[in-house]
Amino acid sequence: MSKKKLVFSGVQPTGNLHLGNYLGALKNFVYLQKEMECIYCVVDLHAITVFQNPKELKNNVLETVASFLATGLNPEKSVIFNQSSVSGHAELAWIFNCVSRIGWLNRMTQFKDKAGSDKEKASVGLYIYPNLMASDILLYKATHVPVGADQKQHLELSRDIAQKFNNDFNCKDFFPLPEPLIPKNVSRIMSLRDGTKKMSKSEESDYSRINLKDNADEISKKIKKAKSDSEQIPNNLKLLENKPEALNLINIYSEISKTSLEKVLNEMSGKEYSYLKTKLTDLLISEITPVGKEIAKLLRDKSHLMKILEKGREKANIIAEENLKNIREKVGLI
Ligand code: AMP
Ligand code: TRP
Repeated sequence: MSKKKLVFSGVQPTGNLHLGNYLGALKNFVYLQKEMECIYCVVDLHAITVFQNPKELKNNVLETVASFLATGLNPEKSVIFNQSSVSGHAELAWIFNCVSRIGWLNRMTQFKDKAGSDKEKASVGLYIYPNLMASDILLYKATHVPVGADQKQHLELSRDIAQKFNNDFNCKDFFPLPEPLIPKNVSRIMSLRDGTKKMSKSEESDYSRINLKDNADEISKKIKKAKSDSEQIPNNLKLLENKPEALNLINIYSEISKTSLEKVLNEMSGKEYSYLKTKLTDLLISEITPVGKEIAKLLRDKSHLMKILEKGREKANIIAEENLKNIREKVGLI
């Protein structure tokens, strides 16, 4: 039986999307929209696994939708909605809480990172977060999931859950085993201040990341201050192995200029990093600042964004309800 290809991905509405989200996920979302049917979800239920100020959460959901549109997602082509508006996500997550194993969750590195040293105080939601993520994907029987490398382990768990459900309920091939789509060189954009940490919304210093809403001046200052290397740019990638900050800048440049890493090194070897930084700043300004301006413009008309969410909810809910009917049947729920 050949299964229809369907893309699903989610982004948390925790404010301020950055260059890591853009290169690791959003650009891929836009590309895939041309090739396949796609569902893109603002995962507000995932966001509340750590406390969110309710007013800010609402604004952040709309800002995330605005960022989707500003980077090129088309609501006529792709389904765009927020997770909590389709109750099937929470219902299937409960069923998956009963399929997934404690031992599987205990291995999740994101929980260990986010919960920090005092795990007793983390919310139960944060612990079972990957089960909800599996439910997001499998509620639609999605086959392909574009994400950054940090989500690979969660995707593997989703596959384990799908497989166990299919075995337990004797329904081979009922849930597809979703495939991660992880970009090659930009699956993990690193912090501009510390090349061993990923670029993240939660890092304290704003100088560690380029935000989609940054203006030209901010981008220029951040790249100028970014850590690089005191030696000249080498002609061989191997020589960058222990220089994560320098490699990160070269990776970003290669991706935005659509030039292979080898070509970039050919062109730049023997030059100082300031040369790369000047060129990178110009490229980032021309690619990112129009996105930021578009986000600001879209946020001036919140009712338009609400309408997009409502339309997306209707479309998503139809697929979700149809699948849930079969899922309840398999489990034996009346
Ligand atoms: P989040 O904002 O954590 O919901 O992430 C949204 C998407 O961006 C996910 O697919 C992440 O894997 C991806 N992502 C987040 N940070 C980075 C990063 N530093 N480099 C590459 N991808 C990232
Ligand atoms: N956990 C993902 C992140 O933090 C967000 C997410 C939630 C997601 N549900 C998903 C991503 C389903 C892909 C598919 O980035």
